[in-house]
Amino acid sequence: MPIKTYLTETLGLRVPVVMGGMQWPTPEELKHAIEQARSLIDPEIAKERSKYGAFGVNITLLPAVVPPDYEGYARAALEAGVRIFETAGNNPGPVIKILKDAGAFVIHKWECAGHPGEDDIGGLVLLALAADQVKAPFIASGGVANGRGLAATLALGAVGANMGTRFMATKESEIDDKIKQVIVQSGERDTAHILRSLRNTTRVFKNKITKEVLELEARHAEFKEIQPLVSGQRGRTVYTKGDPNAGVWTAGQTLGLIHDIPTCKELVARIEREAEERIRSTYAYVNGPSARL
Ligand SMILES: Cc1cc2nc3c(=O)[nH]c(=O)nc-3n(C[C@H](O)[C@H](O)[C@H](O)COP(=O)(O)O)c2cc1C
Repeated sequence: MPIKTYLTETLGLRVPVVMGGMQWPTPEELKHAIEQARSLIDPEIAKERSKYGAFGVNITLLPAVVPPDYEGYARAALEAGVRIFETAGNNPGPVIKILKDAGAFVIHKWECAGHPGEDDIGGLVLLALAADQVKAPFIASGGVANGRGLAATLALGAVGANMGTRFMATKESEIDDKIKQVIVQSGERDTAHILRSLRNTTRVFKNKITKEVLELEARHAEFKEIQPLVSGQRGRTVYTKGDPNAGVWTAGQTLGLIHDIPTCKELVARIEREAEERIRSTYAYVNGPSARL
C-alpha cells in the first residue's frame, strides 16, 4: 500500500521522495528518470492529484561576486509554465513573493543544499524542532539515502524526504562513471566542511583540493587565495573528466549508505519497500494498550 502524505497527495507522487536541485549533476536524463520512477503511480490518479507537475526549478541564493538576477529567473520560469520552485541559501525575500503571487508550490530549503549552516545541529534535532515550530508542511533533507531514512523522517513529522547525493550514483546520472564508483566506495567520514571561516560553510568531498582549502583557512588566508580552488567551473570538471581531485564537489554523509548504482526507478521502488517495512515493524512496538505512565 503506498505511503500517503501531504507531499504525495499534493504533487501526485507515489513515494514521498524528491530529488533536490543539484548544480551540474541534474541533467535532463536524470530528471526524466525521476519522472519515470514517479510514474509507478497510475498516471490518471497522478493527473488528478497534481496540478503542479513533477518538476520544479531550484533557485539557490548565495553570496556571489556578481549577484545573479534571481527575480528575473523566477519570472522567466513562471512564464515558461513552471509551478514548483525550490529556493535555497539565503532568505528568498522578494523572490518568494513573486512565486506566491503566481500560486506556485514553493519548497524553501534551510540548513541544506550542501550548505549546512554554521551551527552543526544534527538532523534529528533539527527535524524535531521543525515539527514543533514550523506551521507549513516540511520535507526532511540531508542524510537520507534509503527506506530507513525515509521512515525516520516521517516519524519525526516530515511529509517526505529530499535526496541529493544518493541520486548522483544512479544509472541515469550523467556524471562520469569513475565518480559514481568513488561515491560507492566512500564512507560517511569522507566529507569535510570548508569555507567556515567565511560563514559560508559547505560540505564537500574530502579530496586533495579540500585539504588545501582547509589549510588556507587555518592560515586565515584571504578569499582571493581560496577562490581559484573552490571555483564552480573547476568543480564541474570532476563530473566531466571523472577525476575526484579536480576541484571541490558537494557530497553528503550519505556516502556511507550508498553501495550500488541502480536505476532511479529501482532505487525509488526499493526505498518505498524498505520504508513500508520499517513503518510496519515499528508499529509492532505500540500494538497493545496505550501507555499509562
Ligand atoms: C553535487 C550536488 C550539488 C548540489 N547543488 C545544489 C544547488 O545548486 N542548489 C541547492 O539548493 N542544492 C544543491 N544540492 C543539495 C541537494 O539538492 C540536496 O538538498 C542535498 O544533496 C540533500 O542531502 P543528501 O545529499 O544528504 O541527500 C546539491 C547536492 C549535491 C550532492
